[in-house]
Amino acid sequence: MLGAYLNQPPAKLRFAYGSMGQPRLLDSGADLDLRFNLSHSGDLLLLGVARGRAVGVDLEPVRSLSHRPAIERRVFSAGERRMLSRLPADQRTAAFFNGWTRKEAFAKATGEGMWAAMGRIEVALAPGEDATLLTLDKSPEAAAGWTLFHLEPAAGFVGAAAVEGRAVTLSVREIEQAPERAR
Ligand SMILES: CC(C)(COP(=O)(O)OP(=O)(O)OC[C@H]1O[C@@H](n2cnc3c(N)ncnc32)[C@H](O)[C@@H]1OP(=O)(O)O)[C@@H](O)C(=O)NCCC(=O)NCCS
Repeated sequence: MLGAYLNQPPAKLRFAYGSMGQPRLLDSGADLDLRFNLSHSGDLLLLGVARGRAVGVDLEPVRSLSHRPAIERRVFSAGERRMLSRLPADQRTAAFFNGWTRKEAFAKATGEGMWAAMGRIEVALAPGEDATLLTLDKSPEAAAGWTLFHLEPAAGFVGAAAVEGRAVTLSVREIEQAPERAR
């Protein structure tokens, strides 16, 4: 897909990695400045592609986690934990993964250490509520410099994309890979 955007054979693309492992294109096309990020889980791959702006994506199966309270204490702010505790019990798992994927997508967009970047932001996480970045470094103004998207790429999965900037339009394409033919 990156090759198609860059009009290059995929085998010609070369990648470099940030200090925390963030992959980027070595030649992102002078005019395009193509950025990308990806996440995979099970048979699904989520690829985020943007022009001239940072993008991060995350994809998780919605599941019960025995150590969820410990993760909540580590990853969510006091405000986010209050939002979670106010929700009916049957919405909390979905809300947890909304919050987790939004925070991880932001962390992956910045290329910073995951825990540090997740701790810099507060996000809306209630099911059905817009995927808003509420604060960045405690500032609502700084948070307005990013756009978050909620994604439901397949039944039982939740995803998020974090994109630098406002007035961002997201277009979603689903590509199904045919099962490999028996030889
Ligand atoms: C980034 C990271 C959190 C993603 O983990 P994950 O949820 O298991 O995996 P995902 O499927 O969502 O994403 C994996 C993809 O993200 C990309 N990626 C890896 N590191 C990344 C980073 N620091 N920033 C952005 N993207 C990254 C890669 O393309 C990777 O896929 P690949 O291994 O097939 O190339 C994980 O790779 C990681 O822990 N990296 C170490 C850096 C870090 O911050 N650790 C936390 C301790 S402070």
